[in-house]
Amino acid sequence: MSKNARMTGNLRIGALISGSGSNLQAILDACESGKISGTVVFVGSDNPNATGLQRASDRNIPTFVVDYGTIIRRHRENPERFNAPDAADIQTAMGRQHLMPQEADPAKRLQFFSTRAAAEAELLLNMAAYRFDLLVLAGFMRNLTPYFIDRVNSDPTHPRIMNIHPALLPAFAGVDGYGDTVRYGCKVAGCTVHFIDYGEDTGPIIGQKAFAIADTDSLDTVRKKGLELEWQLYPTCIQLFAEGRLQVMEAVHRLKNGTEVRRKTVRILPPDDIAGT
Ligand code: GAR
Repeated sequence: MSKNARMTGNLRIGALISGSGSNLQAILDACESGKISGTVVFVGSDNPNATGLQRASDRNIPTFVVDYGTIIRRHRENPERFNAPDAADIQTAMGRQHLMPQEADPAKRLQFFSTRAAAEAELLLNMAAYRFDLLVLAGFMRNLTPYFIDRVNSDPTHPRIMNIHPALLPAFAGVDGYGDTVRYGCKVAGCTVHFIDYGEDTGPIIGQKAFAIADTDSLDTVRKKGLELEWQLYPTCIQLFAEGRLQVMEAVHRLKNGTEVRRKTVRILPPDDIAGT
């Protein structure tokens, strides 16, 4: 985050969505009400039919679409048409990623990362028109690769891509958090806000909210209850970022057998700790 954002309290937020954008709406409302000291400066989508784009247009916030589906198809048919990113960048991204096992079929891996990086290059091109302090994924249903992440997190010690996930991570990563929670027979469901890292829903956790699942609940009611909590949790976490109160640190634990376990975690600083920074 730029020092400026901390001092003026006006966080510049970019958002990526794929669908209805109810989390985006909660963020827009929170900016308007002052719960978030910030402004949404652009909204992008991988999906030309994302209805949430209208929520941004209604407020005169610039939008753009990078049609992943078409890019992936065209890239598969004719990779030569895509001159960015180059092979070395894709190799670097593949070496860092934790989305796919390194021993996975090399041709499949290369195709996945080349097509995603081609789409991500387009995202970056669109985003370059805006200065932003924080990028929020608000129902963005694409995994981001290190190609994109490294170009947004120019200071690796200060991650600035946040995601909201519809489950209590590390349980039920992936595309259907509430569905997986209900199908497993859990008695508690919830949502998680975390920073993005090189894996799928594996980054340092910023905040979580949980609720009980009653016998009378269906997947629909669980999703509804969960979304209502998401709309509270995401703005709260974004405001903590705006206040400079999120400190990513490496926690080191020693297991009984002597093994050392290291994990990046987020410490939430009390407001007093940042006075004078
Ligand atoms: C939300 O439940 C969000 O947590 C989830 O998609 C939904 C989007 O709703 N995100 C993911 O599953 C990300 N892997 P919205 O478009 O109405 O905000």
